[in-house]
Amino acid sequence: MSLSTQRVYLNGEFLPLDQARVPVLDRGFLFGDGVYEVIPVYGGRPLRLAEHLRRLDRSLSAIHMESPLSDDAWSEIIHQLIEGPEDQQIYIQVTRGVQPKRDHAIPASVMPTVFAMGSQIAPIPSGGIKAVTVTDIRWDRCDIKAITLLANVLLRQEAISRGAAEAVIVRDGLALEGAASNLFIVQKQTIITPPKSDTILPGITRDLVLEIAQEAGFTTVERTISLPELRGADEIWFTSSTREILSVTELDAQPVSGGQPGPVWREVLAAYQDYKRRLREGSISE
Ligand code: PDD
Repeated sequence: MSLSTQRVYLNGEFLPLDQARVPVLDRGFLFGDGVYEVIPVYGGRPLRLAEHLRRLDRSLSAIHMESPLSDDAWSEIIHQLIEGPEDQQIYIQVTRGVQPKRDHAIPASVMPTVFAMGSQIAPIPSGGIKAVTVTDIRWDRCDIKAITLLANVLLRQEAISRGAAEAVIVRDGLALEGAASNLFIVQKQTIITPPKSDTILPGITRDLVLEIAQEAGFTTVERTISLPELRGADEIWFTSSTREILSVTELDAQPVSGGQPGPVWREVLAAYQDYKRRLREGSISE
C-alpha cells in the first residue's frame, strides 16, 4: 500500500498517512514522552485486544496520564484500520501532547496526541535465529511500554553489528528479555521465563505462550534466569506480537539445541498457530 493511500488515525480523524502531521512541540517528539502498543490481527480479529488495552492503560497511568479514549472507542478505531483478512498489525501511540514551549515539567492541562496505523507483519523466520548477550543500558521502568526506545534501539543494533538478529539483555547476571521481545528457556522439558518486574515488559505473547504451553501439558515456571543457565539451556526462545515465538539456535556464536530449533519450540509453536487459526475462524474471542 502506498503512503498516499494508507489511511491512519490521528486525533479524531482518519486521513492518508502522508497527510498525518504532528507539531514539532509535541512532547513525544521532544522528550519521547508517550506510550504505545502493537497488536497483531489475524483474519480481521485483533489478538488479545482487551489485554493490549489494559496494558496501554497501565502504561498511561505509570506516566501520570489517563486513557484519552474508552475501550470501545479504541476498538472502533482499531477495527476501522484493519484492511482485509491478511495477517497485519495495528500500532497505537499516545503522547502527552503539544505544549507552547519546550519545558520538562508536565503541563497542568494538555491534549494528548493519539495516533494509530495498520501495517503488514514482516515475514517471520521459520528456522532458528542468532542472538548475542548484551549488557543492559536501559532505565528502571522497563515495564512501561514507552516510546522512548533509544536504549533498545542501540542494543538491537549492537546485536545486528555482531551478526545476530536479537539481543539477550543481561543485568546483574540475569538474562531478562530481548530488545523487543520476551525471553524463554527450556530446561529438561520445563519452560522457564523471567517473572514480571520493572526490568521486563509484561508481554502479551509471553502470557499467551505460558497458557498455551500449560494446555499442551508442559510445566512452566516464572523465575529469574542466570547467565550460566541461559548458556546451558536446551532451548532459547524470544516471543513478541510481531515475531510470535522465535527459536534461538546460536548464542554468542555457540550452537543452542544442536544448532536446530528444539522439539519443545516446535510443539508450542504449533499450538500457537492453532490458536491463531481458531481466532481467524472466530471460535475464540478477540
Ligand atoms: N515489542 N519486551 C520488549 C522490550 C518489547 O518491546 C516487546 C514488544 C516485548 C513483547 O511484548 P508483546 O508480546 O506484548 O508484543 C517484550 C513490540 C512488538 C515493538 O516494540 O514493536
